[in-house]
Amino acid sequence: MSEYWSLRFAQEGMIWGSEPSPTAQAARDIFRQHNVKSVLVPGAGYGRNTKVFSDEFKTLGIELSEDALKMAAEWDPKSHFISGSVLDPISEVQVDAVYCYDVLHLFLEEDRRRLVANCLEQLRPDGLLYFTSFSDEDANNGCGTLLEPGTYEYKEGKYAHFFSEEDLRQHFAGTKIITTGSCVETLCGPLGKKHQYILRYIVARKSALSK
Ligand SMILES: C[S@@+](CC[C@H](N)C(=O)[O-])C[C@H]1O[C@@H](n2cnc3c(N)ncnc32)[C@H](O)[C@@H]1O
Repeated sequence: MSEYWSLRFAQEGMIWGSEPSPTAQAARDIFRQHNVKSVLVPGAGYGRNTKVFSDEFKTLGIELSEDALKMAAEWDPKSHFISGSVLDPISEVQVDAVYCYDVLHLFLEEDRRRLVANCLEQLRPDGLLYFTSFSDEDANNGCGTLLEPGTYEYKEGKYAHFFSEEDLRQHFAGTKIITTGSCVETLCGPLGKKHQYILRYIVARKSALSK
């Protein structure tokens, strides 16, 4: 996994251009309404989405790829980026909110559970989660080799989990789910080439009784 992303960032630079996802702007609006002061962004890439938060929230990005981290430090100097895996315990710091864009679907089930658990561990009680992931309504769902239920190697060397709404909710069982939805996401590459896919998002709150 780390080699795949390192190679892509090294070869393609800002793979998805510099515009943030509309979901990051939606998350920022929700975080504002809930008086959030600090945001964790696991798998932050080169900071395309952290930049939406870092003007007004203390923003911490975790990222595995050193090439992405170099770009992130330049693109979004107001965020603090840490080199590391989101599958390891993340940091000592507790945050008010987590925004995680298109990272959850990269893992097999055990690691997906670990990612969610690690994020909950970093989140203060009553804190907010905003996650996005590939949808089972996307055209790539069902393509290629089935690795686990809902998870396909849809391109050579690249697999992803495609979430139904129920599956996504199930990954966040134990939290208070505020809303879920799906939308068409348009990515614009550095050379202006556009790519569309369908993603799901979930907004949830950590139970005040959790530690
Ligand atoms: C699909 S990209 C999304 C990038 C970013 N979230 C964004 O909004 O542009 C997935 C990102 O997760 C990172 N990643 C993959 N596995 C990781 C891991 N175990 N720990 C930290 N980052 C990881 C990749 O290097 C890549 O930057």
